[in-house]
Amino acid sequence: MAVQISPSILSADFARLAEEATAVAPAADWLHVDVMDYHFVPNLTLGLPVVESLLKHASTPIDCHLMIDDPDRWAPGYAEAGAGSVTVHAEAAKAPVRTLRAIRAAGARAGLAVNPGTAVEPYEDLLPEIDMMLLMTVEPGFGGQKFLDMVLPKLRRAREMVARHGGQIWLQVDGGVGVETIERCADAGADVFVAGSAVYGADDPAEAVRALRAQAERATAHAAWNASSA
Ligand code: DX5
Ligand code: ZN
Repeated sequence: MAVQISPSILSADFARLAEEATAVAPAADWLHVDVMDYHFVPNLTLGLPVVESLLKHASTPIDCHLMIDDPDRWAPGYAEAGAGSVTVHAEAAKAPVRTLRAIRAAGARAGLAVNPGTAVEPYEDLLPEIDMMLLMTVEPGFGGQKFLDMVLPKLRRAREMVARHGGQIWLQVDGGVGVETIERCADAGADVFVAGSAVYGADDPAEAVRALRAQAERATAHAAWNASSA
């Protein structure tokens, strides 16, 4: 499984978003954009108009993480605008099958996110509808929070679930992922790593992405879940 790194612009300078996107472009696989609505989470960030502007300036595909109420109404618009991946929260979606299908129909990868206290097993039947599952490793809403180790057993179970299903679905972790924690995530089964403060808090964001990737690749190579590891 290939390791992918998705720097979160939540920790970037919002007044210089295009430059901040460019800063990680040589090293990143995705640009993670946290959409927060002050209802699903107690924070407010940005919405579709800003994503549309970013799409014009960013050379890296955009990974939209929607922390909003009523994603059934709003998510397809982000896919139609050109986001490469659109993730909705299981706790917020009322018609996930319809919404995930609409995301895919608009040409984006469909993601399903779960908060730290939400189990993954109830969503096993949705696996054919998704391209990525996002396991939050902090309570969503803010960057710079402490990584929650309690999510790691669930990540192992999610990896087993995905393996049973054929192994094509990506497993993303988001929250507190950095040099201290990324190896534990890779070992437990993650293959897509969101990092906000660990990237944009560094002097050289692109170099921070490369270092995180190298760490994750080393841990993945030795991980029991990774069949190609020897
Ligand atoms: C939190 C967001 C994350 C956030 C992660 O709700 O979904 O994407 O940017 O920030 P760090 O990596 O600083 O925990
Ligand atoms: Zn996020």
